[in-house]
Amino acid sequence: MERILINGRKPINGIINISGAKNAAVAVLPAAVACNGVCIIDNLPHIEDVTNLVTAMTSLGVKCEFTDPHTLVIDSRDITTHSIDINKMNNMRASYYFMGAMLGRFKEATVPMPGGCDLGARPIDYHLKGFQALGAKVVQEHGIVTLKAEKLTGALIYLDNPSVGATINFMIAATFAEGISTIENCAKEPHVVDTASFLKKMGARIHGAGTSTIRIIGVEQLSGGDYTIVPDPIETGTYMIAGAITQGDVTVAGIIPKHMESVTAKLREVGCIIHEGLDSIRVQGVEKMKPIELKTAYYPGFPTDLQPQMATLLCKASGSSIITENIFEHRFRYANELKRLGGFLRISGRSAVTNGYCNFTGATVTATDLRAGAALVIAGLTAKGQTLIGGVKHIDRGYERLEEKLYSLGADIRRV
Ligand code: EPZ
Repeated sequence: MERILINGRKPINGIINISGAKNAAVAVLPAAVACNGVCIIDNLPHIEDVTNLVTAMTSLGVKCEFTDPHTLVIDSRDITTHSIDINKMNNMRASYYFMGAMLGRFKEATVPMPGGCDLGARPIDYHLKGFQALGAKVVQEHGIVTLKAEKLTGALIYLDNPSVGATINFMIAATFAEGISTIENCAKEPHVVDTASFLKKMGARIHGAGTSTIRIIGVEQLSGGDYTIVPDPIETGTYMIAGAITQGDVTVAGIIPKHMESVTAKLREVGCIIHEGLDSIRVQGVEKMKPIELKTAYYPGFPTDLQPQMATLLCKASGSSIITENIFEHRFRYANELKRLGGFLRISGRSAVTNGYCNFTGATVTATDLRAGAALVIAGLTAKGQTLIGGVKHIDRGYERLEEKLYSLGADIRRV
């Protein structure tokens, strides 16, 4: 089984090119299945979640061809089935977007309940309520969701929480509903806006993406077209934090600085020196970092997907920091593994406290989920001695060539 080996305590310096956003890619690819045409998607990240989705799309009869590792040609004109094979999808969360895509275009869909990182309950009740509001009949049995609708009629839904998945899924299905649909209290993440931009390019009529209210005017069908995925804000933030914790000097390039505002603000509060360019951000780490209070929130707040990485950084600050996780009920599962490396977090409910001043030392640890894995890599980069990280498959789901990119910045890191 592959593992990542790090000899720590080397500052990382240099320019890193950021890949396309995982959480945009995993929404745009299923949305392309709703298009009766050929789509060319580029700037796709070369990650497991993308290759898994392509396998599932191919099983539907969609013709997929990578013209290069980051560019995929998708021909969805001849779909042969509206049912996703449970063996092909149940290890990732984003399989649920096939529900919105196939219910929208074909008025029926059979999709396994989603898997993905174990961060808590992660129900999909908002998604299913949205489909029912559009006129779909929902049946859930044996871990499979079956959706059917005579026709879809525009509806208004209000989300109790601005759920990213529910916002995107409803938006895709409502694209094909007669009349006007509205989502109130919807998510505003960059990947929500990206999916809306993709759908609009293919002929959808969507207004308000990026605000708390999205309006969709139904259309008959979507055509094909070309689209470029936005850069990944979570990958970007991960490398910014890696530069900070190693007291290095890292420039993340090919990004949208506006998407990083909350991360830039918190790293500045910690004491990092940050210069923003038009499509890049330079982060210089400092030896003495200030403790802060960190609360995760829906966009544009601090992203929950960078909470493990930031908590690792705060273990090295000169004083006590409090981290509050407001999105998921179990997103401190990495704390035990972090403790083995010398990072001490005291967990109570949705908050974690670190006294700071942690001296990380290398050990053998295992990633429990995608972003927890990234946090262990970040800890390994600053730890004295050797760190061996297992569970690399979690990391490969969402980071393209993580160890190669860090190696190019001077880290002593390799896959063994
Ligand atoms: C997306 O998950 C991301 N995944 C997650 O990234 C990210 O952490 C999360 O959004 C929040 O930003 C993808 O985009 C594939 P939510 P999603 O629906 O859509 C509750 C990563 O590491 N909820 O915004 O599943 C839910 O339990 C992953 O890249 C319901 O109660 O998140 C959670 O507490 C991890 N019912 C909150 O809403 C529902 O029907 C936010 O979840 C849906 C959600």
